[in-house]
Amino acid sequence: MSNDQPLWTDVCALEDIPRRGARVVKTQSGCVALFRSVDDGVFALDDRCPHKGGPLSQGIVHDRSVTCPLHNWVFSLETGEAKGADTGIVQTYPAEVRAGRVHLDLRRLAAKVA
Ligand code: FES
Repeated sequence: MSNDQPLWTDVCALEDIPRRGARVVKTQSGCVALFRSVDDGVFALDDRCPHKGGPLSQGIVHDRSVTCPLHNWVFSLETGEAKGADTGIVQTYPAEVRAGRVHLDLRRLAAKVA
């Protein structure tokens, strides 16, 4: 297998993440915030707001966005980009739900800390 192939790893059950909420999971490659939208989409992002480092996992999830709890900037869960007049981007990672379990691509996460 080449090194750019995904290395999918089971990190938790979908039910472990509240709908319209988030959960931080610790992996061998560092922590990542998992967000669950109302329609059961799951998104993996850094748990750090690019504005002043707010904990995005404690923000409010709406549609496919999260509002930072510190100064209310809004970020797309799909792209990590700030919405509206604000600028900035949160690192996103591939996440998939298979048979009710959430999988992350550990290779992409490892690239984050390398
Ligand atoms: S730290 Fe997130 S909006 Fe300011």
